[in-house]
Amino acid sequence: TKPLRIALAGLGTVGAGVVKLLDANAALIERRAGRAIEITAVSARDRTRDRGVDLSRFAWIDDTADLARRDDVDVVVELVGGSDGPALTLARATIAGGKSFVTANKAMIAHHGLELATAAEAKGVALKYEAAVAGGIPVIKGLREGAAANEIDHVFGILNGTCNYILSTMESPSVSGHGRDFGDVLAEAQALGYAEADPSFDIDGVDAAHKLSILASLAFGATIDFDSVAITGIRHVKAADIAEAAALGYKIRLVGLGEATSKGLFQRVHPCLVPVDHPLAHVTGSLNAVVAEGNYVGRLLFQGRGAGEGPTASAVVADLIDIARGETGPAFGMPVASLAHLPAAPAGER
Ligand code: NDP
Ligand code: HSE
Repeated sequence: TKPLRIALAGLGTVGAGVVKLLDANAALIERRAGRAIEITAVSARDRTRDRGVDLSRFAWIDDTADLARRDDVDVVVELVGGSDGPALTLARATIAGGKSFVTANKAMIAHHGLELATAAEAKGVALKYEAAVAGGIPVIKGLREGAAANEIDHVFGILNGTCNYILSTMESPSVSGHGRDFGDVLAEAQALGYAEADPSFDIDGVDAAHKLSILASLAFGATIDFDSVAITGIRHVKAADIAEAAALGYKIRLVGLGEATSKGLFQRVHPCLVPVDHPLAHVTGSLNAVVAEGNYVGRLLFQGRGAGEGPTASAVVADLIDIARGETGPAFGMPVASLAHLPAAPAGER
C-alpha cells in the first residue's frame, strides 16, 4: 500500500512534536493506519533555526501556500496558527485542490470552520482538527462519534492549559507557587510550550472561547457562533483571591460553559469558584477536562493533557491515521447544511 504523504506547515512546539512522534512510533503507526505516514515537505519562517529534529530528509518550502500545490503531498497539516493569514490561505488552497487538511488551529476553526467544512464536503476530502480543542484529549471524536446518538443540552470544562497551569501553580504552597507573581508563572507556561504565540489569547479567555464555540457546535449540532461567547479572562486574578477562595473551600478555575435552552444558546467563559470536592477542582497544571451530559449515554467526563508538544502531536497524528484509513466523515458530525442555527440567548438571561 502506498504511504500517506504529508506536508507540515509550522515547525514550532506542535510541528516539531509531530516530526518526533512520527519518527518514534513509525512502525506502530503504520500497523494501525494500514500504511506508512511519511512527511515529504515542510515549511516555517526561519530555515536556519535548530528545532531538535532532522529536517534534511524533507523538501523545505519557503512559501507555506505552495504546500497545497505539490504532487508529492496527499494531506497538508497546518500548525502555524492565527485565524486568518497564511493558515487560512493554506487551508482554502489545500481543500480547493482536493487534498485533506489537518489543523490544531482553534482560532481558524472557530472563525472559518463552517466555510472550510462546506468546501471539504464539496470536494469529498477530510477536514480534521482534533488537536484544536483540549490538546491530547479525544474530545472532538468523543462528542462527534461517541455521543453521536445523544441529545446534549450542556457542555462545560477547563479548556485552556496555560490558565489552568497559572491558577493551579499559584494555589500550590508545596511547589513554592503560593503567592507567586502572575507574570512569572505565565513565563513558565510559555517556556513549557503551552501558551499561544500571543499569550493574551490565553489569559484573556479568547482561546478557551474559541474552543467552547467549537464544542458547542458539536454538542448541539449547531453552527459555530464565536461572537456570542461572553468572555472574562484571568488577567485580574490575584494570589490573594486564590488564597481567599481556598479558605472558603474553593479553587479558582477558568471554565467554559455552553447551554442550549429554549431561550437560545448560552456560551460563556469566566473564572469560577469550584468546590474543592468537584472533579474540576482536581484538574491541575496543563490538564484540561470536558463534561457533557447525553440523554442516553449519561455524563461523559474527558480529562487529560490539554496543551504541550506530546499531547497535541498525539492528536494531530491520530487525525492522520484516520485519514490513512480512509475516514473522511463530516467535520462537525453532520453535513454543514444540516446544522441548526441557534439564536444567541439574550444577555443576562438563563
Ligand atoms: P509555535 O509558535 O511554537 O509555532 C508556530 C510555527 O509556525 C513556527 O514554526 C513558525 O515558524 C511558523 N510560522 C509562524 N508564522 C508563519 C508564517 N507567516 N509562515 C510560515 N510559518 C510560520 O506554535 P505552536 O506549535 O504552539 O502552535 C501551533 C498551532 O497549534 C496554533 O494554531 C496553536 O493554537 C495550536 N495549538 C497549540 C498547542 C500547544 O500546546 N502549543 C496545543 C493545541 C493547539 P518559525 O519556527 O520559523 O518561527
Ligand atoms: N494555548 C493553549 C492552552 C494551547 O494553553 O490551552 C492548547 O490549545
